Amino acid sequence: MVKKVTVKTIRKYKENNEKFSALTAYDYSTAKYLDEAGIDLILIGDSLAMVALGYETTNSVGVEEMAIFTKAVAKGVSRAMVITDMPFMSYHTDIPAAIKNCGEMIKLGANGVKIEGYSDYILEVITRCTESGIPVVGHLGFTPQFLNTLGGYRIQGKTQEAAEEILKQAKQLEKAGAFAVVLEMVPQESAKFITENLNISTISCGAGKYCDAQVLVSDDVFGKYSDFTPKFARKYADMKELILTCAKQYDTDVKTGKFPSENEIF
Ligand code: KIV
Repeated sequence: MVKKVTVKTIRKYKENNEKFSALTAYDYSTAKYLDEAGIDLILIGDSLAMVALGYETTNSVGVEEMAIFTKAVAKGVSRAMVITDMPFMSYHTDIPAAIKNCGEMIKLGANGVKIEGYSDYILEVITRCTESGIPVVGHLGFTPQFLNTLGGYRIQGKTQEAAEEILKQAKQLEKAGAFAVVLEMVPQESAKFITENLNISTISCGAGKYCDAQVLVSDDVFGKYSDFTPKFARKYADMKELILTCAKQYDTDVKTGKFPSENEIF
């Protein structure tokens, strides 16, 4: 019987100064392998809008689509904590709609949700989710759902003053009940300052080595998505090349009559 990673486990990691790993997954098999590999937190990121659905930004994905991917990933995972990224406009209109949409992901097998940004309203969403038994991961620094407001993919928290502002916001998220916070595209020294002054875990997405955890988009890690790779992502394989090689070989085998062989027929 595997011991499931829970909010309690993540809090323990912080207390013990122990790092943990997170990656995105969007389908059953990938989630199963990441879980088997020991990844602690599996995020159904709204990045799936771009890497799995081919949309231009993350803002085009909806609750119904996130629900399908959540169901698939949750089925593949036994140990890791499964977190669903709540998509653009799924938690912004009013509190009842936010709770309903977040709760839907839990019903489908997620163990928590991630929501972006900071405002009095967001704090209220986090409080109400937490009170309802929905663990929440916050997301500060560069928040992709605010792409149009931020004016592009820009590094956040560059000055001491800006880092202090992110820390202030993170402390409020913590107070509202968030059990961790993603820091995206924040300079390493600012992220260090924030991490050292928070009681909840920071999860770096391009925020350097001093955070409590690291998260990357798995399609970047495996070299599968090639439209754009951020500077902070490390590519461990070249799945694009592998897929191309396999598909070309299959195409040749079919066209030259090499597939199927005697062993591959009834
Ligand atoms: O959508 C996503 O994949 C994310 C990241 C933090 C990796 O939000």
